[in-house]
Amino acid sequence: MNAAFRFDDWDTPVPTANPPIPTVNRKFSPKMETPDAASLAPTNAADKRIVNGKADINQLAPFKYPWAWEFFLKANRNHWTPLEIGMAQDVHDYQHKLSAAERHVFENVLAYLTTSDILAMRNIGLAVMEKMSAPELQIYQARQVYEEALHTWTYQHCIESLGLDQQEIYNRYRVVPEIHGKIALANRRLERVMRADFDLTDRTNLHEFALSYFFFAVIFEGCWFYNGFTPVFALQRRGLMKGAAEQLQYIMRDEVLHCAFGIRVIRELLIEENLTLDPDALRELWDEAEAAESAYAGYILREPILGYNAELHVQQFRFIANRRARQVGVAEPFPGAENVLPWLDEQANLRKEKNFFETRVTEYQTGGALAWD
Ligand SMILES: [Fe+2]
Ligand SMILES: [Fe+2]
Repeated sequence: MNAAFRFDDWDTPVPTANPPIPTVNRKFSPKMETPDAASLAPTNAADKRIVNGKADINQLAPFKYPWAWEFFLKANRNHWTPLEIGMAQDVHDYQHKLSAAERHVFENVLAYLTTSDILAMRNIGLAVMEKMSAPELQIYQARQVYEEALHTWTYQHCIESLGLDQQEIYNRYRVVPEIHGKIALANRRLERVMRADFDLTDRTNLHEFALSYFFFAVIFEGCWFYNGFTPVFALQRRGLMKGAAEQLQYIMRDEVLHCAFGIRVIRELLIEENLTLDPDALRELWDEAEAAESAYAGYILREPILGYNAELHVQQFRFIANRRARQVGVAEPFPGAENVLPWLDEQANLRKEKNFFETRVTEYQTGGALAWD
């Protein structure tokens, strides 16, 4: 039975295979919880901390981190869904205009992204949010969890629109070593901090957590995602796959906020906890990320496409990595890396009045507010 769900009458019949619910007669005597003196005392915003805080997690304001609330408001002014963007021309492009090399690039970027955004959602929702001890931080992260789910919906919408084989696309990261490498690296970072016994009052664990958050916000979102959409943008610049590319532009705007928020949290965490990220550990992180990205670029761009190749992709990764490092306040990992794709930042800062792409104009309330170095 596929009757439409009714919001005013959702008492749908239980399938007959289920046993009837037994009736139990019992005496119920409700008792009010009686608080002790300590739990009746008011708490102060000044007592809030990023992690290990003792202030009441259920009190939103007064804020200790008003910038986190601003991020939440800003994210809500950037709402969109994949259904708003037409995909009909993309179906035609995919079937009739893309070369085999271009289809290879497009499909593998999509295959990587589908898995990546689920990982991003699990990281922020399961490993990060529960460790935050100020509600204004958790509230932005709750929005972020939703946005990661929205991104997954977007890729699924693209896959359905183009009629791609879901079994094949979603399994690609498991069977292609060069895609698997990036996912495995992220999974390893995530699993280290998602253990039930992971105690942040331990300084070693605290450093591990800061490093993991750094990996996800700065590298995974700030570099891999930021730069990861560029092969599709390269198609878009030639008038191809404009619907999918526009979808990715909207995702990119969310990711820029995720990265900016994460960097702010990391900076405040390091000050609050008097913590320094170990330069050797950071070096290892950057080197692993660069190696994984190079292997990935070599696979998706084993044949260059017009205006884009693996070398450009890796050079741009290094350039973006330096920018992120400066934003966090740590040493640049790849000194001298050049901005070989200057148009990438324009894609990130898409504004209504700068609609290069001839697709439908989508209203944004705050396009200018999302400008990002
Ligand atoms: Fe995402
Ligand atoms: Fe994200």
